[in-house]
Amino acid sequence: MFKISGKKQLTPLIYSLEVEAPRIAKSAKPGQFLIVRPTENGERVPLTICDYDAEKGTVRIVVQIAGVSSSKICMMNEGDFLCDVAGPLGKPSEFMDIPYEELKNKRYLFVAGGVGAAPVYPQAMYLHKAGAHVDVIIGARNKDLIIMEDEMKKACTNLYICTDDGSKGEKGVVTLLMERLGNNYDMCVAIGPMIMMKFATLTAKKLNLPITVSLNTLMVDGTGMCGACRVSVAGKTMFACVDGPEFNGYDVDFDEAMRRQTLYRKQEQDANEAAGLVLKR
Ligand SMILES: Cc1cc2nc3c(=O)[nH]c(=O)nc-3n(C[C@H](O)[C@H](O)[C@H](O)COP(=O)(O)OP(=O)(O)OC[C@H]3O[C@@H](n4cnc5c(N)ncnc54)[C@H](O)[C@@H]3O)c2cc1C
Ligand code: FES
Repeated sequence: MFKISGKKQLTPLIYSLEVEAPRIAKSAKPGQFLIVRPTENGERVPLTICDYDAEKGTVRIVVQIAGVSSSKICMMNEGDFLCDVAGPLGKPSEFMDIPYEELKNKRYLFVAGGVGAAPVYPQAMYLHKAGAHVDVIIGARNKDLIIMEDEMKKACTNLYICTDDGSKGEKGVVTLLMERLGNNYDMCVAIGPMIMMKFATLTAKKLNLPITVSLNTLMVDGTGMCGACRVSVAGKTMFACVDGPEFNGYDVDFDEAMRRQTLYRKQEQDANEAAGLVLKR
């Protein structure tokens, strides 16, 4: 059992939870994720490690209510216990292999869509601390969906915000800002909805900018056994949970990945209805 030691609501549908998990906190690295089972009979929910504190023995998750299981997690309170937290899972971000000293000469552009700001945060912070130049774009439908703005400012050199309706920052989508910033970077990292990562990759290609994406495919076991997270990368079958979740964006078959994400849409809608959960998609 894993105690929730802190909870904060970030938007009407997004919550930040601090969880006591000392062993995970000691070995977590940017880019990795957890699989959380809120209750004994609950589903397994993959969630990125948004932050970790080895001294305190805590990890932080930022969860958006997308359906029944994420809603169960968000409805839990400080002092409650999550039944299982497995991790850290997946490969750490590729820049973890670059000697720390070398990172200070690198320039990174992060592109975060909605709750994608949560996985971007530990990566940006790591690189910022290493002395790299780190620019971050956060995009969302409107100003109420922008999360972690103040924290992100402390994790980067420049923070750019855009909203579809212009209620905060630039009016428009993240790719417009990417085009404006141009190819001034060694690497771009895009994390958010699959469709955003697809278009960020197309823009990066146009700019001749290398891009890494973090795939939020369906996952069940998170250990490479069940096949749920299968994706085609450079024409080869890969498992996002063990071969990723980060991949070279140029190589990912996004259309197939998006099709596979909707495989259980009917069951998800039935479960929402049974639980009386009304969500706009
Ligand atoms: C590596 C990884 C990291 C993630 N990190 C975060 C995060 O930090 N914060 C966050 O809010 N969300 C994150 N997600 C997405 C999160 O796992 C889903 O939103 C959640 O599982 C939805 O479950 P549900 O029962 O609430 O919704 P459902 O109604 O079951 O599904 C809603 C949508 O969520 C997705 N989904 C459903 N089940 C799964 C599953 N088992 N695995 C993956 N996606 C699923 C599908 O796209 C589905 O259409 C991550 C996913 C992955 C794979
Ligand atoms: S989640 Fe089962 S193989 Fe990746």
